Formats: sequence, C-alpha cells, structure tokens
Amino acid sequence: MNKRTPADSLPTSQIHLAYNAASSDSINARGATTVAVVGAGQMGSGIGQVFASAGFRVKMYDLSDHIFESSSNRISDSLKKLESKNLLDKPAKQIQELISYHTNMDELVSSDIFIESAFEDFSIKTSIFQKLSKILTATSYVASNTSSYSITALSQMVPWPEKFIGFHFMNPPPIISMIEIIRGLYTSDATNSFFWKLAHDLKKIPIASKNSPGFVLNRILIPMINEAIYVFYEGISTVEEIDEALKLGANHPIGPLALADLIGLDTVHAIMKTLRKEMGDEKYQPCPLLENYVSRGRLGKKTKKGFYDY
Ligand SMILES: NC(=O)c1ccc[n+]([C@@H]2O[C@H](COP(=O)([O-])OP(=O)(O)OC[C@H]3O[C@@H](n4cnc5c(N)ncnc54)[C@H](O)[C@@H]3O)[C@@H](O)[C@H]2O)c1
Repeated sequence: MNKRTPADSLPTSQIHLAYNAASSDSINARGATTVAVVGAGQMGSGIGQVFASAGFRVKMYDLSDHIFESSSNRISDSLKKLESKNLLDKPAKQIQELISYHTNMDELVSSDIFIESAFEDFSIKTSIFQKLSKILTATSYVASNTSSYSITALSQMVPWPEKFIGFHFMNPPPIISMIEIIRGLYTSDATNSFFWKLAHDLKKIPIASKNSPGFVLNRILIPMINEAIYVFYEGISTVEEIDEALKLGANHPIGPLALADLIGLDTVHAIMKTLRKEMGDEKYQPCPLLENYVSRGRLGKKTKKGFYDY
C-alpha cells in the first residue's frame, strides 16, 4: 500500500457530523458525569482542569503520588491566573474540589468517560488500555490524547472499539481553544457525535481529522520544529535568532525551539519517529541533535533544560 494513503479512508462527510449544539442539553447537565484521566503529566493535568472547569467530576490516575503534587500545583497555579483575569465561571477552589487523585485503577470504575494521556509510547498506551478494559462497560466512552498513533490500532485494545475516539487537546489545554477529533475505523456515529458535543461543552473548537499519522496539526507542526532543530544543528543560526525569525517573520506567537521545549523533546521525538515509520519517508527522520538531547534526558521545560534553560 502507498504509505502516503491514510489507512482509514472514511469519506470526509462521515468524519463530520450533524448535530445541533443549541437544541440539545449539555452532556453534564446534571453535574453527575465523571471523567477519568489516565496520566497526570502536563497534558493530563490540563485536561483534568478543563473538565473540572466545565463542572465534570474528574478522577486523575497516575503511577505514583509524587506526580499528583506537581499536577495539583500546576492546576492551582493555572486556575489562579485565570481567576485573576476573570476568566473562570466559578471560584478556582470549587473547580479544584471536583478533582480527585488515584493510583489504584479500580477506583476509576463507573467513570463515564476515560481519557488516556500517558507518555507518547505505543506499548505504554497499549498496556493501559488492556488494564482499563477490566473496568470498562458497554456504556463507557474512551478517548486517547495521543499526538500521532493510529486511533484504529489503539481502539482494538478495548472491548468496545465503537466507543473509542481520538480527542487531541493542545498544550496548554486550558488556554488553547482548538481540539482535534479523530475517528478510528470502528468509531460509531453516536460516539463521534458525543465527542463533538463534548468539545463544545468544554468550549473547544473541534477540527476533524482522518486517522492518519500526526493527524492535521502535528503532521505540519512537528516536521517544522524538526527543521528548526536542523537549522540550529547545522550552525546556520542561534536558538534565539531562529525563534525570532519565526516570530517576526512568520508572525508565530512562539518560536519553534521554545515550542519544542514546551511540548517536551521526548514527545517531539516520538511523533517524528511515528511519522518516519508510518509515512515511510526519509524527510521525517528526527534530527540527530534531537535524538542526542532525548537520549541524555534533556527534554525541555519539564526537565528544566532543552534548547533553553528554565
Ligand atoms: N506535550 C504536548 O504538547 C502534547 C500536546 C498534545 C498531546 N500530547 C500527548 O499527550 C500525552 C501526554 O503527554 P504529556 O506532555 O502530558 O507528557 P508528560 O511526560 O508530561 O506526562 C505523561 C504522564 O504519563 C504518566 N504515565 C506513564 N506511564 C503510565 C501508566 N502506565 N499509567 C498511567 N500514567 C502513566 C507519567 O507518569 C506522566 O505523569 C502524550 O500522548 C502526548 O503525545 C502532548
């Protein structure tokens, strides 16, 4: 098969859906909908915050308690900032009270919606979905926040793949209004409609993408970041000047190398590797400097050292 042909060739008309946001109640109208977020890193924490801000009960799951301290601090700092700008519908404290933290997956049982946001590593995601399968029911909706993996492949790890979808938040989730919604081959129309409605309830603007490596945004953004890393690696310009060039010359709000640090260099690297493998094209080869930084644990903002020091 031509590597550049998406595996799941749903007609575009089937990716979008017809629903009337104004005519239907919000999903959490009674305030009783619980969302389990698996992975409480930078994205999972932000996703939990977005759901709690919209009144959902949120159960955050991760592997150890020390991760919850930074998750809770991250959420509280972000809510304080938003509150000071009058951007919250209710007090920050009330929002934070909707969030609980769990290291025992069994405690996620009976959640209505599961959002996976662990490391961008296919085997980790696979093992999470296999474990989650023990507590899912026929009514559970399941989504992955993966940046690049096949939604169809991930959906096959759960017992009801028709309830599975790609729900791809942007970083930082409480600030960026866009969300990508990716149907897998088995995603039902009802599940697709549910998540489009959910996106609107969360005050996000959904963009439909077919199930193709990197979807829409990362297919374009991550190779651009990789090219910026090459420009630095080849000594063409400095980190600061490369970022200035894109900010001043292309009107980007943030330079590509600062953005790479924000995303996490491990995540940028993982997405490039998926694009390289799935598209079968040399142009997606990660820059050797990116490989070098990642192998040394220099991962950007989260390790306080990347292209910049933090
Ligand atoms: N960083 C971004 O800008 C960005 C944007 C959109 C989507 N994403 C995607 O979001 C996901 C998470 O990225 P992130 O930036 O939050 O990474 P992160 O490194 O900040 O957090 C990942 C979290 O996953 C947890 N984890 C690892 N194995 C786990 C397991 N078995 N069970 C539960 N939790 C586990 C880790 O402990 C960590 O807290 C990835 O799939 C990434 O591609 C990232």
